[in-house]
Amino acid sequence: MLKVILSFLFSFMLLACDGYDQSETQHAVASAHPIATQAGIDILNQGGNAFDAAVAVSATLAVVEPYSSGMGGGGFWLLHSVKDQSDVMIDGREVAPQKAHRDMYLDKTGNVIPKLSINGPLSAGIPGQPAALVHINKQYGQLSLKEVLAPAIKAAQQGFKVSKHYQRMASFRLKALQASPAAAEIFLQDNELPEIGFTIKQNDLANTLTAIANQGSAGFYQGKVADALVNGTTAAGGIWTLADLAEYQIKSRQPIVGQIGRFKVTSVAPPSSGGVALLSMLNMLEARDWASLKLVDRKHLIIESMRRAYRDRAMFLGDSDFVSVPVKRLTSKSYAKQIAADINMKQATPSNELPGLDVEAKGNHTTHFSIIDKQGNRVAATLSVNYPFGSCFVPPGTGILLNDEMDDFSAKPGSPNAYGLVGAKANEIQPGKRMLSSMSPTFIESDDKLAVLGTPGGSRIITMVLHSIINVADGKSAQQVVSMPRFHHQYLPDEVQYETGSFSAEEANVLVSRGHRLKSLSSSYGNMQVVVVNKKTQQIEAASDPRGEGQAIVE
Ligand code: DON
Repeated sequence: MLKVILSFLFSFMLLACDGYDQSETQHAVASAHPIATQAGIDILNQGGNAFDAAVAVSATLAVVEPYSSGMGGGGFWLLHSVKDQSDVMIDGREVAPQKAHRDMYLDKTGNVIPKLSINGPLSAGIPGQPAALVHINKQYGQLSLKEVLAPAIKAAQQGFKVSKHYQRMASFRLKALQASPAAAEIFLQDNELPEIGFTIKQNDLANTLTAIANQGSAGFYQGKVADALVNGTTAAGGIWTLADLAEYQIKSRQPIVGQIGRFKVTSVAPPSSGGVALLSMLNMLEARDWASLKLVDRKHLIIESMRRAYRDRAMFLGDSDFVSVPVKRLTSKSYAKQIAADINMKQATPSNELPGLDVEAKGNHTTHFSIIDKQGNRVAATLSVNYPFGSCFVPPGTGILLNDEMDDFSAKPGSPNAYGLVGAKANEIQPGKRMLSSMSPTFIESDDKLAVLGTPGGSRIITMVLHSIINVADGKSAQQVVSMPRFHHQYLPDEVQYETGSFSAEEANVLVSRGHRLKSLSSSYGNMQVVVVNKKTQQIEAASDPRGEGQAIVE
């Protein structure tokens, strides 16, 4: 599958990427839910741009995919504006409340209290999604906030049907949802798992969205909704204050950008670890002349690059507003050359021979969408409430399902979070700090091709995006990119987790003989949403991961 990949990635001359100056008639939206994709397309057809569509899709996903993202959560929106050929990362990540502290999830003897950072109001960071949507609308949109939030409000009032996937997620979180009467009232049917086809209506959420539509950020972070959020969390043992909400700020950040062969890769900066790890892995592949290798050797090299980039993630990455993250060094060609130098092509490097600490992960929730409009503006956004249905806690009267993103902090050095991730001091809890993320919305562009992509999947997000970059560069169609089998290594546990079809029997034998531990996954993972533009023919393709229930529309 990877035969031609590096003829694209590494063996071509470095070419400047001219901007995508589209003048034909298509636009595209790929998202994890058909109702959200349609909301985005409707907004584009009403004369909105990609940024308007992004707000509509984000808000609608918050309604119809409550287990993945929401107004009680956060995310990263990567925007490309054609007008000035600029890229910006809108960081709407949650922050730790002011009363949060380093040891807040530890008991008196210093042990982590199970589930405290996963269930209930103590697990929730101060949400960033409402502020991010208001900001994107104000700075980049063409339509009013009322217009772009209208599809989400309608979806909340009319309701959506419970699917198999919804049922699976709700079943996984049933006890925690039952523990919050307001959450159970909305997301369950008579306090039990809803039947497939049951309609989930969210009138309180419609009211909160309407308050945001009418008042902007103040509709959420101040006034009646803020009061209800603070009263509701406090009554259930939470620590949020009105000041936490009033002081929440999105950050506009410079994306992480690198050139790999003829492809420019643009992805997200800390507090995501995605952009740094992606460039680090791509630079290592380039440093070891990946293009010249046999297929199985390429796979060996990908695994070894993943191992090393994830070691660095665990060691160095955190919120760069609080800790110094050596982004320049970690993404430099010279650093990649140095750490790739000890990759033995005949033998896997045991992870415990690399200096550092543990990492592990799994997971299938959170959401992503990719949009391009007829002007060539584009948005890649990955949004999350973290665990399925976030904290499972709804402050009464708000309709807002709170995230449990606090679990992405390192509760204690060396102690794994829900995805098995452990971290260092760089990611310890501090008031006002953003927790480290793996979410990696990404653009890649050459002189003749452009792709907008991303996916959920916990710490596997970054390696999924790596595979997709390689596959786009290899000339694969959008449908192939989202469908290809995936494999993942993340330093610790020292194993290659893979989906069926990732390796031929012969490749598996070779990899095992080199010392790799191959772990076949019982289920597939990820929910990639991709838009690919052929800049020469102006043809747009979009695809939604067959593993999920999303939809891509080009029209
Ligand atoms: O920000 C992060 O990295 C996580 N909260 C994302 C969680 C996720 O993707 C869950 N899906 N498996």
